[in-house]
Amino acid sequence: MRDDVKELSFPDSGLKVWRCDTEAAVDMAAADLAEEVIRSKPAGKAGPVLGVATGSTPEGLYAELVRRHREQGLSFANVTSFNLDEYLGLYPGHDQSYRYFMVHQLFMHVDIKYENTFVPSGLEWNMEKHVQEYEELIRAKGGIDLQVLGIGGNAHIGFNEPGSAKDSRTRVVALEESTREANSRFFDNDISKVPTHAISMGVATVLEAKKVILMAKGEGKADAVAKSVKGPATPHVPASLLQGHPDCIFILDPGAASLLE
Ligand code: PGA
Repeated sequence: MRDDVKELSFPDSGLKVWRCDTEAAVDMAAADLAEEVIRSKPAGKAGPVLGVATGSTPEGLYAELVRRHREQGLSFANVTSFNLDEYLGLYPGHDQSYRYFMVHQLFMHVDIKYENTFVPSGLEWNMEKHVQEYEELIRAKGGIDLQVLGIGGNAHIGFNEPGSAKDSRTRVVALEESTREANSRFFDNDISKVPTHAISMGVATVLEAKKVILMAKGEGKADAVAKSVKGPATPHVPASLLQGHPDCIFILDPGAASLLE
């Protein structure tokens, strides 16, 4: 464990909870775990599979992974990635699409093969078939070794908004007003420009990952984090459904952990 990370104990939750001294320590702790998974599967064998998230929270993680690629030879040549979600109706080149985000934050800066990067497509005419194929593809690649998550102010994970069932799968979801409001900062602060729907991996899809890390930064996430860790596991607080997972770590900065201590 890094010097700037302290483990908090919430035995009833079954979750591991790490309180990091700074936002940068959150990024470093997450990067250490990602690097461990990437290096654990050497070339030639079935490669590591990362489940990746978008949003402001993991930007520092991706910057650190890019740095390790450039300066320490961390290779993504054998990595497959699956994104958690994508907006419905945005084409991949739209600067707010999650495909665009991933290309610019990570993929174009490392040696990952573009054909091994998967993001749900927001433009499929047969969405039912598309979401089913996404699930099948994850399974065909051997399942997700490490899933990275952020958390919404309403405790959503991916775009699994409150009310999402524990057995939910990749599907089209309606976004809550609060989510569209929070994300309007990326759309000229104009909520009418924020898509109303998205495709999201389901809660069950996330729970099948071998390891899950949920990153959270800032006091705006403190209430959602506290309810997820200390409250009952309930679909009303989607991140609380992670409590049943055998290897899930919440990696928090002091603001996000502020209602836990
Ligand atoms: P943020 O979003 O990282 O931009 O705060 C997280 C989320 O909504 O899951």
